Amino acid sequence: MPQVLILHGPNLNLLGTREPDVYGQQTLADIDADCLSHGQALGLDVVSFQSNSEGSLVDRVQQAAADGADWIVINPAAYTHTSVALRDALLGTAIPFIEVHLSNVHAREEFRQTSYFSDRAVGVICGFGAQGYRMALDVVAAQLKTD
Ligand code: DQA
Repeated sequence: MPQVLILHGPNLNLLGTREPDVYGQQTLADIDADCLSHGQALGLDVVSFQSNSEGSLVDRVQQAAADGADWIVINPAAYTHTSVALRDALLGTAIPFIEVHLSNVHAREEFRQTSYFSDRAVGVICGFGAQGYRMALDVVAAQLKTD
């Protein structure tokens, strides 16, 4: 079964209580459970990982390459706008990835409109809340069919 790693960056562990008007009411556990069951329905082996630490996220990307992961779905959260290290980790693995944001970052502060990932992502999904992760998994399943 194709393996998909879902990576969540800093502060996403606080979903549900963190600025619910911006990020929604669902907790990260809700989102992960939904991704797992949606992935199963699509024939994907989905694993999720969240960290507040840049180094741990880099390590997890490197581990994904060692594990032979087929796709990565990543919400780098605040690291979207700052992390060369995480960008380099993804490019170093050459695993195709989709960038997801819960909020529409383009309708927010100017600093959120710079991403260290978008130019190398297969695609970017933002502004659809937790539904964005499902959409990303749908895209992965469709792309795997056309491979
Ligand atoms: C976010 C948007 C980022 O700008 C922010 O730092 C986050 C979450 C989103 O999902 O909308 O932590 O990635």
